[in-house]
Amino acid sequence: MSSSRNSFTGTLGFVIAAAASAVGLGNIWRFPFLAARDGGGIFLLTYLILALTFGFTLLTSEVAIGRMTRKSPLTAYTSINKNARPICIMACVIPIIILPYYCAIGGWVLKYFISFLSGQAERAAEEGYFTGFISDVSSPIIMMAIFLAITMSVVILGVDKGIEKFSKLAMPFLILLILIICIFSLTLSHTDESGTVRTGMEGLRILFIPDFSSLTFQSLMNTLMDAMGQLFYSLSIAMGIMIAYGSYMRDDTNLPKAIGQIEIFDTAIAFLAGIMIIPAVYVFMGKEGMEASGPGLMFVTLPRVFSQMGRIGAFIGCLFFAMVLFAATTSSVSILEAIVSSFVDRFGIERKKAVMLEGVICFALGTLVCLGYNLLYFEYTLPNGAVGQLLDIMDYVSNNLMMPLVSIGTCILVGWVTNPDKIIGEITKNGESFNRKTVFVVMLRYIAPVMLFAILIKALGLL
Ligand code: PFF
Repeated sequence: MSSSRNSFTGTLGFVIAAAASAVGLGNIWRFPFLAARDGGGIFLLTYLILALTFGFTLLTSEVAIGRMTRKSPLTAYTSINKNARPICIMACVIPIIILPYYCAIGGWVLKYFISFLSGQAERAAEEGYFTGFISDVSSPIIMMAIFLAITMSVVILGVDKGIEKFSKLAMPFLILLILIICIFSLTLSHTDESGTVRTGMEGLRILFIPDFSSLTFQSLMNTLMDAMGQLFYSLSIAMGIMIAYGSYMRDDTNLPKAIGQIEIFDTAIAFLAGIMIIPAVYVFMGKEGMEASGPGLMFVTLPRVFSQMGRIGAFIGCLFFAMVLFAATTSSVSILEAIVSSFVDRFGIERKKAVMLEGVICFALGTLVCLGYNLLYFEYTLPNGAVGQLLDIMDYVSNNLMMPLVSIGTCILVGWVTNPDKIIGEITKNGESFNRKTVFVVMLRYIAPVMLFAILIKALGLL
């Protein structure tokens, strides 16, 4: 390893930073909604099985490629095979597309945190508050810029003194806040106007107990697709982050063990987010309230739930948005680091300059994303049938098209072009036991590419 290359201080530093990257907006608003929509327990079970096989294989491959090559996403794949240039370029472009809209949403979270902190919980729950905010020209841009500036200031400090330190500080708070809100959510009880009493524990049952009554082959396929897509998003794979983080990992780190810990952590937080959100929404809004997704769930439904809780709701809401802010910042930091590492490695520029350069690009694209809800508003129907604005198009192109392509490329490169033994040699280079070796090889060579291809053709509206 070159002495000038940044590195994590040890195994714990790597695991915390990678877990902090994985735990983000995806866990908090996407996972609970998918779980509620896709039959509760059935989705959870499918997700768990896929996390331990499909997610594990892709995550392990990327971290191992990073450590083996000691290169950034823009250069790592080509040092394994010269023809892998398209994968390198895509793996670098994906985070450049994602960061601006992630920061735009980070700005929305910041706005809500400030609103709750300054005693405006009631206003935040009013009809039209969210639409009013995003259709304003300047304030979403200002919030996005503040969120981006926080992200940049962490990455400028480097891998160990910036990212690792920040993650070690933020993650305990995040866990504590999630646990407090979970306990609160489970102990809720509410009687609505018709006299129906709904409790948090009933909501928990809806989340966990599989609903087989409406199970069909088609619905099982949809659940499988949703779970695979969510794993991609949630584990921060196929976008260069885990390659960059792997390249900062120490040689003596037990790689399979570290990957296992990241998986457990990310999945546990997603499940806890479900326990935190679904019972609370169910208690105050009934089953219909659980149908809102994405921005609707976090910025419209939840503030209403908090306002229904009475005076304590303003406090719980404040804790909730503080927690989401921690989760979103530690993830955006990792997205920026993936880009910066590529700029530093490929063009030989200093970290500070690379951060500034990407900061300018991100600010420009992020401004367009924010203006997509007002001055530049348009509606576009995507190939998968969803209708969206600029943010949705960027999310679609990166997550639904480019990320599966990068992962298919990774599987072919590691599983077929070079021998999987090469990567297994890296994974077990300190004599570590690699219990899921057979799962890893079979997944990498046969099953994962087929699954990824299915995600891709579904995204294109062909399935
Ligand atoms: N894994 C993080 C999350 O779940 O929010 C960060 C992230 C990675 C977000 C990749 C989006 C994405 F496409």
